[in-house]
Amino acid sequence: MLPKYSFLEHLLFPPTKVHQKKLRQASQQKTILITGASYGIGEASARLLAAYDVHLILVARTASKLTALKKSLEDQTAQISIYPTDLTQVEEVEALLLALKKLPNGLDVLISNAGHSIQRPIQKSLERFHDFERTMAINYFAPVRLFLGLMPLLEKRKGHMMNISAINVLLLPAPHWAAYQASKTAFDQWFRSVAIEMESYGVSSTSLYLPLVRTRMIAPTKAYQNVPAMSPEHVARLIAKSLYRPKRTWMPWWSIFARLGSFFCRGLWEFLVPKFLQKS
Ligand SMILES: NC(=O)c1ccc[n+]([C@@H]2O[C@H](COP(=O)([O-])OP(=O)(O)OC[C@H]3O[C@@H](n4cnc5c(N)ncnc54)[C@H](OP(=O)(O)O)[C@@H]3O)[C@@H](O)[C@H]2O)c1
Repeated sequence: MLPKYSFLEHLLFPPTKVHQKKLRQASQQKTILITGASYGIGEASARLLAAYDVHLILVARTASKLTALKKSLEDQTAQISIYPTDLTQVEEVEALLLALKKLPNGLDVLISNAGHSIQRPIQKSLERFHDFERTMAINYFAPVRLFLGLMPLLEKRKGHMMNISAINVLLLPAPHWAAYQASKTAFDQWFRSVAIEMESYGVSSTSLYLPLVRTRMIAPTKAYQNVPAMSPEHVARLIAKSLYRPKRTWMPWWSIFARLGSFFCRGLWEFLVPKFLQKS
């Protein structure tokens, strides 16, 4: 069951139907790694895919949350393995890679979803260089390290790499989001560059450019409480669909207008936004 959308959300995020038979066929006996599986989009994806004959490898820091998730999915079809790991810690990632390289059936799909966002005006960031380090650590260096370690496995299985990205990386940068946007954009560029190379080895790829998604990530931002947002369960359906109908990119239908606006209206944006910020 998907959570209820408002009328506007229905328009902005029309329903995504998952063809169960196609998904069953495409995912059968596949090993699928989801990072950031303890909450939000990762958790919703694990819950959806647990109904299929797959081996789910769930990675995140919160061991208790992963254990509870695994327990709640015990009566489902999927085999579930959990690996509590802080993806920003080199030793922990090395241990994870070692374990994954021993998987009997290799790895078919890597869904790079773990992430962290920070919204903070630059004037409040002057003593907070660590904000920029920690967003780069989890949103850029962590997935780079993981993909480097797992690429040979994906290549062997002619697998699929997926990046859970944000629509913002394709649009004009918004104020207060420098740390998050820069780190997500860095990984988007890395991923797209590598995806082209890996396609020549038979590895396919999908970048999902998501709008706001109602998870704990946006909960602290008051301004987002009444703004239209997708549900994590809806995003899970998009992820599931990408498994049987791999598309290089997914973005909301209206993103074409947002992208055209970004292309033609940079001057206007950079003129108006400072004035708005001054007033507010
Ligand atoms: N929510 C949105 O509006 C939105 C929009 C566009 C794109 N996205 C992207 O969607 C992805 C998922 O976000 P979400 O909205 O589902 O957020 P979320 O509910 O906060 O989930 C983030 C996940 O990442 C994991 N994680 C964070 N730091 C980690 C670390 N150091 N090592 C391992 N795992 C870590 C968290 O688990 P632990 O805390 O247990 O480690 C959690 O499972 C992110 O990449 C985000 O950038 C979100």
